[in-house]
Amino acid sequence: MKTIEWRDNVLTVEGVSCVTLAEDYGTPLFVYSRRAIETAWREFDTALTGHDHLVCYSVKANSNLAVLQTLVKLGSGFDIVSGGEFKRVLAAGGSPDRIVFSGVGKTAQEITTCLKAGIRCFNVESISELERLAILAEELGVVAPVSLRINPDVDAQTHPYISTGLKENKFGIGMQDAMATYRRAADLSSIDVQGIDCHIGSQLTRIEPYADALTHLLTLVDKLRDEGIVISHIDVGGGQGIQYDQETPLDIAAWASCVRDAVGARKMEIIAEPGRYIAGPAGVLLTRVEYLKSNDSRHFAVVDAAMNDVIRPALYGAWQAIEPVIKNPQRAVRVYDVVGPICESADFLGKQRSLGIAENDLLAVMSTGAYCAVMSSNYNTRPRSAEVMVDGETSQLVRAREQVDALFADEYLLP
Ligand code: LLP
Repeated sequence: MKTIEWRDNVLTVEGVSCVTLAEDYGTPLFVYSRRAIETAWREFDTALTGHDHLVCYSVKANSNLAVLQTLVKLGSGFDIVSGGEFKRVLAAGGSPDRIVFSGVGKTAQEITTCLKAGIRCFNVESISELERLAILAEELGVVAPVSLRINPDVDAQTHPYISTGLKENKFGIGMQDAMATYRRAADLSSIDVQGIDCHIGSQLTRIEPYADALTHLLTLVDKLRDEGIVISHIDVGGGQGIQYDQETPLDIAAWASCVRDAVGARKMEIIAEPGRYIAGPAGVLLTRVEYLKSNDSRHFAVVDAAMNDVIRPALYGAWQAIEPVIKNPQRAVRVYDVVGPICESADFLGKQRSLGIAENDLLAVMSTGAYCAVMSSNYNTRPRSAEVMVDGETSQLVRAREQVDALFADEYLLP
């Protein structure tokens, strides 16, 4: 049974009607299925069972406390990229020893906080960061567990904005500098070299780029071992693609086999950092049609959600499925641009969509559990949407809709 599906022509999340949810909580509204989140996380965990592993959910995809709490209860680890995300994981009940810290710009303050807390690993992205980390650890009298994020220069074959494993990207340490950086790390007494990692991009629907990256990384691991530098874990990042349109989602069992086969007999824990695959398909955004209008032959459905809620179409030209919450065969079908009220031509959720709708109908923007609420803004002084988690037959508000007054409460009038 699917967790998000139409039953008797009404969209339901774990059997709960989205019409009822929209009436109870208002629109625009993000709705998440707890079961969908759990099922996706378990896919990774199961696929890696039998090999020492840790699935570290990438918090940036959806950092709502209830999402994190759901994953804490499963025993998940977490991949964070800021002191803010660190605090969220702790607030959700997560423990530092299951946190890996990625990102090219870790501040001294963020590093110190995570060193004091004793996180699992720092995924270091440059020689300068390594030196800074070493000094801060020494000052605190601790040893920092480190993995070096290698940029293997492989083409992830995804959108350029979400591709991260090429030389032209800002991420990681280039292959040409990798050995020297490891040697330096091994020399530093406040650094404990533990791992190697990479993250080559997001929304990958093919296994080959992972295999390419692994070949590069494991060649390095073997060279390092010959020099006496032993790497005890390999972190393969995230990036597993989901279905937005016609794509076939990445096969997690096949992906895991690829990683396990590549690691082979080497004694290394496998860490993965999936974000989108876990949260993306678990969410829908409900929005109401305010107006239908036409400019000559172009038809527009103006809805109450906008690019401030879902920026992916405007930012990446991403395609998100848009469906009527109630499928009503009586409605005449027309081709619409589904647009929001923001004063930007880039404010669209979808273009040229065939929809049978009328004003006041509800629409669902599908697969909006990842990189939507977290990327939302207050542009045009629009309050951020409420978020609801459905768990079995019950729904629970997990983020209140922002109040307009609160949006400028931290601003000051001149004296
Ligand atoms: N690990 C690292 C180091 C990352 O940078 C990312 C994502 C992940 C893991 C998780 O990747 P995932 O499994 O979610 O693909 N805003 C864009 C996606 C940006 C991804 C950034 N890094 C979008 O909406 O498509």
